[in-house]
Amino acid sequence: MVGLTRVPGLLFGGDYNPEQWPEEVWAEDARLMAEAGVNLATVAVFSWSRLEPRQGEYDFGWLDRVLDLLHAHGVAADLATATATPPPWLVREHPDVMPVNADGVRLEFGSRQGYCPSSPVFREHLVRLTTAMATRYRNHPALVMWHIGNEYADHTLECFCPESARHFREWLTARYGDVDALNAAWGTSCWGQHYTAFAQIEPPRTAPGPVNPAQVLDWRRFCSDALLELFLAEKAVLRAITPFVPITTNFMSILHGLDYWKWSAALDVVSDDAYPDPADPESHVAVALSYDLMRSLKQQPWLLLESAPSAVSWREVNVPKPPGMMRLHSLQALAHGSDGVLFFQWRQAKYGPEKFHSALLPHGGTATRGWQDTLRLGQDLRKLGELAGAETKAQVAIVLDWESWWGLEAPESMPSNRLKLKDLLLAWYRPLHARGVAVDLAPPGRDLSGYRLVIVPNLYLCTDEQAEALAAFDGELIVGPFSGVVDAADQVHEGGAPGPLRDLLGIEVDEFWPLQDGVTQDTTAGPARTWAEWIRLVDAEPVASYEGGELHGRPAITRKGNVTYVSCLLDDVTPVLAPLLGGLDHVDVPEGVEAVRRGGHLFLLNHTTTRQQVTLPRPGTDLLTDTALHGDIELAPRDAVVLRIEGDK
Ligand code: GLA
Repeated sequence: MVGLTRVPGLLFGGDYNPEQWPEEVWAEDARLMAEAGVNLATVAVFSWSRLEPRQGEYDFGWLDRVLDLLHAHGVAADLATATATPPPWLVREHPDVMPVNADGVRLEFGSRQGYCPSSPVFREHLVRLTTAMATRYRNHPALVMWHIGNEYADHTLECFCPESARHFREWLTARYGDVDALNAAWGTSCWGQHYTAFAQIEPPRTAPGPVNPAQVLDWRRFCSDALLELFLAEKAVLRAITPFVPITTNFMSILHGLDYWKWSAALDVVSDDAYPDPADPESHVAVALSYDLMRSLKQQPWLLLESAPSAVSWREVNVPKPPGMMRLHSLQALAHGSDGVLFFQWRQAKYGPEKFHSALLPHGGTATRGWQDTLRLGQDLRKLGELAGAETKAQVAIVLDWESWWGLEAPESMPSNRLKLKDLLLAWYRPLHARGVAVDLAPPGRDLSGYRLVIVPNLYLCTDEQAEALAAFDGELIVGPFSGVVDAADQVHEGGAPGPLRDLLGIEVDEFWPLQDGVTQDTTAGPARTWAEWIRLVDAEPVASYEGGELHGRPAITRKGNVTYVSCLLDDVTPVLAPLLGGLDHVDVPEGVEAVRRGGHLFLLNHTTTRQQVTLPRPGTDLLTDTALHGDIELAPRDAVVLRIEGDK
């Protein structure tokens, strides 16, 4: 089957940085790639200074030879436009290309991603290079996908320079039309901030005290949009010159800075970089959530474009992956909808900040454990080719909204700064994942009618339209605390929370009741921490109540029709979920074993270090061992089964 690109089967490979090696090494690279079954390499991500060493003077010869060599060895290219880092000549000639931080300090060259997203000079040169790249390689047979930029917002999410300020004002003018509308939205009557002209507005630089949260929220929106604009400038060039080549940029899992719902609409292929920490025994749960987001963004398969074969080099302590984990984590990405597994990077670097980052071909060469892992994974992926393009069906959706996230995690002036959206998402995702229940992520406005259960862990910022979309859903709905608090301008809804969700939930929030660190608030559904609320019932029924303390006897969890409201952060949400799970597709597995359906396949992934028994729900063939299986099976530590289920499609 052909998945996201025209390469048949699953994709396997990684970032390839040949410019870091003498040309003699390239032949060995290509030979070993072919030996391992590599079929895709991401090339030229940071190559601008080598491709255009002086303005307008291009040196494409080396890249021509690299692409020819790859192609001759059956390796396709995810070709970067090479714009992720401007070259030294550009920043020396135009110092204002470099970004400025919130304290007004212009950052120095010497790392990467050193650009102001709003710089017209940067944009002009980037469009020029992209045009040259697309023109040069439009017909190269290795080219199967364009890779624009790299991990947008990794190092540079925002810039506070005068050019960014101008761009921000332009964005605000388009949003509000006139300055009085902005004054009304930003509530500038507070603390004497009434503006009489857009020209008076600046980005939220470091100020004497808390900055207007509505201004900060618009800044978050603007920063996501400004980087997207930069991406779109390149996309327009590529579309015009190579209309049939799919375009991607690598996302960074669940990233606070960029609204990936908006961004993914601009991509042909969603791709992701995921680096679960091998030292964290729970990391496979959080990464599964981010994979499910990637699949949900365009509701189609996606691509794990970067992962680590073993250790990374950017944590304080970089623990390697023990034997079996690289393979297991790779299979996990496929289970959650990826059409391939790619790594950072092909050959381990000899110099630079990533010289201790693992690679498919380690410093020690083909004698290493790492290389054996690479060969084995290549063999496994060849057995799994039929998975390419297969879709996932989920009956449960978790709602995630970036604007609400930005509001919730405003840097200052909130009832508690302990509410973190990722924690709230995981609190609901974890027990579903443990039960082998497939989960999609969804933006609040999406048609939810195909789902049986929808969970809104938090919707601090909730518009009337979003509330209407939730009210239109007629399955089981669970809404978490501190939802329906503010509107799109971060202004508290009339009458307070839950604002436009009042009729749906049938309650009023009288007062937020954040809990100090270390304080537990008991409820009849189990202990809660971090957050509670003093709520009043309107026409909802109490399902659980607070026990002890000032809230004793008051409702903690309520229900109106099919809608459950949970006003606190329970240590374990199972008591709320369990009654709603009856009839949902799931697979019973022991703790630490992950069960994931994809198309007509069932993945069973043993994340533990002990043998585990699983009863197969249906007989089938394990594609990894080509063995027919049924009934009770045993999974070795960190081993997996990919079952083609009999009679299923
Ligand atoms: C990111 C970047 C890569 C590399 C890896 C290292 O994913 O895109 O260039 O730095 O991190 O983990």
